[in-house]
Amino acid sequence: MLPISCLRARDFCYICNVIERELNIAVVGAGNRARKYLSCLPGNVRLRCIVEPDPLRLSLAAKHHGVPESGCYSSPEAFFAAYHKLDAVIIAAPDREHVALALEAVRHGWHVLLEKPAATCAEDYEKLLKAAEAAGVHIGLCLEMRHHPYFHRIYELVKEGAVGEVLEIDHTEHIGPDRMAHSFVRGPWVKKAETGPVFLSKCCHDADFLLWLTGGSVEEVRSSGALLKFRPGNTRTPLRCIDCTIPDCPYSAVNLYRERREWVAGFDVPDGGTLEDVIDEELRSGRYGRCVYHCDNDVFDTQDVLARLSNGISLNLHLEGTSMEEGRTTIITGTRGKLVAENWKIGLGDVWEDYSHLATLPLHAGADAALVRDFFSAVSEGREPGCSLASALEGHKLCFLAG
Ligand SMILES: NC(=O)c1ccc[n+]([C@@H]2O[C@H](COP(=O)([O-])OP(=O)(O)OC[C@H]3O[C@@H](n4cnc5c(N)ncnc54)[C@H](O)[C@@H]3O)[C@@H](O)[C@H]2O)c1
Repeated sequence: MLPISCLRARDFCYICNVIERELNIAVVGAGNRARKYLSCLPGNVRLRCIVEPDPLRLSLAAKHHGVPESGCYSSPEAFFAAYHKLDAVIIAAPDREHVALALEAVRHGWHVLLEKPAATCAEDYEKLLKAAEAAGVHIGLCLEMRHHPYFHRIYELVKEGAVGEVLEIDHTEHIGPDRMAHSFVRGPWVKKAETGPVFLSKCCHDADFLLWLTGGSVEEVRSSGALLKFRPGNTRTPLRCIDCTIPDCPYSAVNLYRERREWVAGFDVPDGGTLEDVIDEELRSGRYGRCVYHCDNDVFDTQDVLARLSNGISLNLHLEGTSMEEGRTTIITGTRGKLVAENWKIGLGDVWEDYSHLATLPLHAGADAALVRDFFSAVSEGREPGCSLASALEGHKLCFLAG
């Protein structure tokens, strides 16, 4: 095992710095993700406008960031209709809104930091690419794996030739029980027709990372998935966890939200209220209090995707949402050896580097801050951001084809 001293300075890159030019920005969609990005804006980036349809969220964000009422908008239409002298916008609204909002921002000549997925279909992605190119603005995507110290280390080792030429990559994303239940069974990404397939919502990060690592373009994709576990009829439980007496259910909403206080960051607390009250209300009547076997979800909880690239490399991707495991495992086979990355450790032969201290660091171990800083530095310097819309095309394409 290599000592921690093998870590590079960028492991600690969430310490933000100041960019050269003062930039005026807006945020469109002031939810969970936006809060993270706004918490690590580099010096000289000034938040001038907030666009958020939820009145409680709008007022909480305005208060927190000191944005006056004149800069607060409850509808994107009103925001885009008014005159603003802005350099860039962060778009962190729900997936289905991304393309329309980004096209409007581009039309105004603003650079865009856009949440993933950029679009939910290939046609919209192309449309956005063309519009940004025609307007001469940059679109940066929030695909953190490229900025994450652990995944960046894998990238670096492969580029240094640690395994020789890459032949094949086997990559599994285990979505742990808490994340699976919260996001893909009870929460926002549960219906394919509304939010797109789960492979796009969740694994666009993985597909992007693998295509960034390997280069090449996607030639052929085979995919099969199923909803195996989180279906009505899989148990005879009550409709709500609060009424359930099954001991130690790994998907208990009572245990997750009330006892462990996990995944509660998105529960907004109104002035004068408490988080306890909000959780109780959610357990009694909200979507997050439902038993995982009595929800309205239809996205897959298991999927296998095989992609063949133009450079001959094959990628085997697995999405696994039914087990108790959480995290990613990557096995890269090359002409000279094999790299195994699992549980925050990276192994080459019998030499292992340990990155487990990163697991608990905030902002995706600093990756969120690194991508925000890169984007605004790029805007200030007039260059393309590291994770640009153009550079993320192939990863998205893989997801569109996987369905
Ligand atoms: N990069 C990552 O690691 C990561 C992780 C989770 C989610 N996401 C993505 O971030 C985006 C936001 O997710 P979130 O978890 O913050 O969700 P969220 O629901 O907490 O926030 C979205 C906000 O957008 C607002 N909104 C809805 N329609 C809008 C519109 N037309 N204009 C402006 N605002 C609108 C909602 O009221 C909400 O406050 C999604 O696209 C999601 O896929 C990215």
